[in-house]
Amino acid sequence: TPRILSGMQPTHDSLHLGNYLGAQVSWVRMQSDFDAFFCVVDQHALTVGPTPEELRRRTRVTAAQYLAGGIDPERSTVFVQSHVPEHSQLAWVLNCLTGYGEAARMTQFKDKAGKRGTEGTNVGLFTYPMLMAADILLYDATAVPVGEDQRQHLELTRDLAQRFNARYGTTFVIPEAHIPAETAKIMSLQEPTAKMSKSADNQAGNLMMLDAPKANTKKIKSAVTDTDNAVRYDPEAKPGIANLLRIHSALSGEKVDALVEQYAGENKYGALKTDVAALVAEVQEPFKARVDELVGDPAELDRVLARGAERAREVASATLARVYDAVGFLPAA
Ligand code: TYM
Repeated sequence: TPRILSGMQPTHDSLHLGNYLGAQVSWVRMQSDFDAFFCVVDQHALTVGPTPEELRRRTRVTAAQYLAGGIDPERSTVFVQSHVPEHSQLAWVLNCLTGYGEAARMTQFKDKAGKRGTEGTNVGLFTYPMLMAADILLYDATAVPVGEDQRQHLELTRDLAQRFNARYGTTFVIPEAHIPAETAKIMSLQEPTAKMSKSADNQAGNLMMLDAPKANTKKIKSAVTDTDNAVRYDPEAKPGIANLLRIHSALSGEKVDALVEQYAGENKYGALKTDVAALVAEVQEPFKARVDELVGDPAELDRVLARGAERAREVASATLARVYDAVGFLPAA
């Protein structure tokens, strides 16, 4: 069976609806057709400087959200990045294959470094994409289900894999980004031309999976729209309404065209918002209840992660051995 790998950073306690619709829904759908690996990328999260307690708590609660969203640990491998040391070992090799300018062109790095300034930016943020490439290449993943914002990192991963293969002989599978058509970029409710983002300044634009449904309903009711008053799908002229229609469609399974008909006429923005809020609450409530249960039994959760790490290491260590041999590292024994 072909493999997939994906991951999320435990930089916050709760996932937001963009993580859920842009990534997790594809993960759940794909886990029946692929040998799937889902990693909580705690080493990536260290780049934003969490306290040890925060990192521990967020790593567990992120793993719990993978399971609550429908990842079946009997079928898929769920694990924590730092449990598999091969990720950082391969990242070093990939660092030595990446041009400085190539890394400096990553837009996510430029955004973050731009906000923090050179002095406030750690080198981990700079080498982040090569660690991500290692996450993927260690598992010979053919597809990587992610949102639109990860496209450039996937391109770099492919370039590095091809460069390595050309230089040292075929070692890596070349992975493809698997980006959903309608939900690749869920927008902020407050600033509908910018993506919903955990690091956004205005958290009122984010729907958090673990917030009380009431809080999300309030955010949806005050979502920024426009003054035109008619529900139409026009992402350019009406980005707020387009975003609400896409969220509705993803959660209800109804086509956007059908929704536009359903909300035809004047003054239907309120009805659209009420229905979106109900749909969000409907997924969120059982999700949150399941997360509470899982986090309430950390020993069981840790057992799932230990099993996942064992299975992940089997695959990762074999790939790393191939790589070490290919580049000319002497065998240790
Ligand atoms: P992260 O933790 O920022 O986001 C997790 C996933 O959610 C997707 N996503 C979105 N999708 C739609 N609309 C949005 N507004 C939105 N915001 C986030 C992201 O595209 C992602 O799929 N670098 C990665 C983590 C990572 C990774 C990997 C992913 C590390 N190693 C290996 C795949 C494979 C990141 O920061 O995702």
